[in-house]
Amino acid sequence: MAPPRQPWWTGGVLYQAYPRSFADSNGDGIGDLAGLRGRLDYLQWLGVDGIWLNPTFPSPNRDWGYDVSDYRSVHPDLGTIEDLDALIAATGEVGIRILLDLVPAHTSDQHEWFLESRSSRESPRRPWYIWRDGAEEQDSVFGGKAWTYDEPAGQYYHHLFLPEQPDLNWMQPDVRDAFDEILRFWFERGVAGFRIDVVHELVKDPPGQSNRPEIHSVLRRWRALADGYDPERLLLGETWVLDLDELASFYGQADELQLGFNFPFMFAGLDAAALADVVKRTEYVLPAGSLPVWALSNHDVVRFPTRVCDEDDAKVRCALLALLTLRGTSVLYYGDELGMRQVDIPSDRVFDVHGRDGARTPMLWGDAEWRDPWLPVGGNVASVAEQRADPGSVLSFCREAIALRGGRDDLIAGAYTPLAGQAGIWAWRRGEGTAVAINLTDSPANLSLAGDVLLSTKGRDDPSRLEPWEGVVVALT
Ligand code: NOJ
Ligand code: CA
Repeated sequence: MAPPRQPWWTGGVLYQAYPRSFADSNGDGIGDLAGLRGRLDYLQWLGVDGIWLNPTFPSPNRDWGYDVSDYRSVHPDLGTIEDLDALIAATGEVGIRILLDLVPAHTSDQHEWFLESRSSRESPRRPWYIWRDGAEEQDSVFGGKAWTYDEPAGQYYHHLFLPEQPDLNWMQPDVRDAFDEILRFWFERGVAGFRIDVVHELVKDPPGQSNRPEIHSVLRRWRALADGYDPERLLLGETWVLDLDELASFYGQADELQLGFNFPFMFAGLDAAALADVVKRTEYVLPAGSLPVWALSNHDVVRFPTRVCDEDDAKVRCALLALLTLRGTSVLYYGDELGMRQVDIPSDRVFDVHGRDGARTPMLWGDAEWRDPWLPVGGNVASVAEQRADPGSVLSFCREAIALRGGRDDLIAGAYTPLAGQAGIWAWRRGEGTAVAINLTDSPANLSLAGDVLLSTKGRDDPSRLEPWEGVVVALT
């Protein structure tokens, strides 16, 4: 047996499940934790190492779980804390880890901390949020101003997102202590780590300046806490910055986040030169010994088959092949493995304040119908049941790519070395013995790789030539 990977996410595949849309156990139209547990055989078959769950905490859902009203419990729509314990136990038995989504930058306006804070200027919780006598000129991310006037104490509070998402004041030592306890609470329940929301804007006093140095002291503190567990817990940040040096800063001296999402990669398009450039620079700027993390879709952006692949499965396979053969950790958003498209949402079914429902629609299982689903079922691709039965499907291809990655040391940990090639062909070597070449053009291309094709997006077996929109993994000889 191969030695276990250290740490476990090295060369691993994480699966982002949007719990409300993954699998519904009780037929109320909302996915839930028991439903997810019922689909573990699928995730195991697919070959994922961990699952990141979008927020599972009680929330008024003004921003679909990103407005947390209690950090130590489970949203009743999704189940109970016992359901979460059962999920952690069941995934643990099959070697899959659970990551929760920590939302530390802001709470719900219904969280007891904010209710106390807003009650009077003298409240001991007053300084837990950001209050000012006058409103500053600053816009919120979702439109409108970032400051809202609040009775009864007659001051303005800051919210980078909705007025119902007041920002915590991370300059307050008590806030830092409270979150240490929240991290410990979940780590002790067996959670393998957290995806951390808006980490690049965590500390904001004064607001309006991102990536403040104080953020890094919080991250070092969390990392020390996470490293105190065995196995060490994973901190995966939503580092929504478009500058790669800035991204690298969140890894610290390998003493802050272990992984920070790479948004420049997500937004590079399916363009060989742009992708090669982002990946090469990412490999260059990250601290020695650390791992990049790659994703093409998430719950905030248009699904990648629609956004960058023209809903063409040949292109979808190329994108998935790249995602799954780069060095580091790769994240699939649920449905990516099916090539699921963005769904058009009729105006009377819109829920999200920021137009993101079309990326959050119910998973297409095919062997069970969604009853009265909270968002329309769509996706315009064959279901899991159909694709599992078809060896030529996107799903079967994706599973093969994951299996190849997991069984080949070069693909788990081998260095990334760019290979020069024709315009439109993105090619690189992993370790000494494996190469990947992807033709992101409409024309065939010659290749000069000597070896055997291990996987082709078109099921071909020719290391000397690529069809238009074909990618291959080659064992070099
Ligand atoms: C990023 C999350 O991914 C997004 O869904 C949310 O709206 C904002 N942060 C605010 O928490
Ligand atoms: Ca349900």
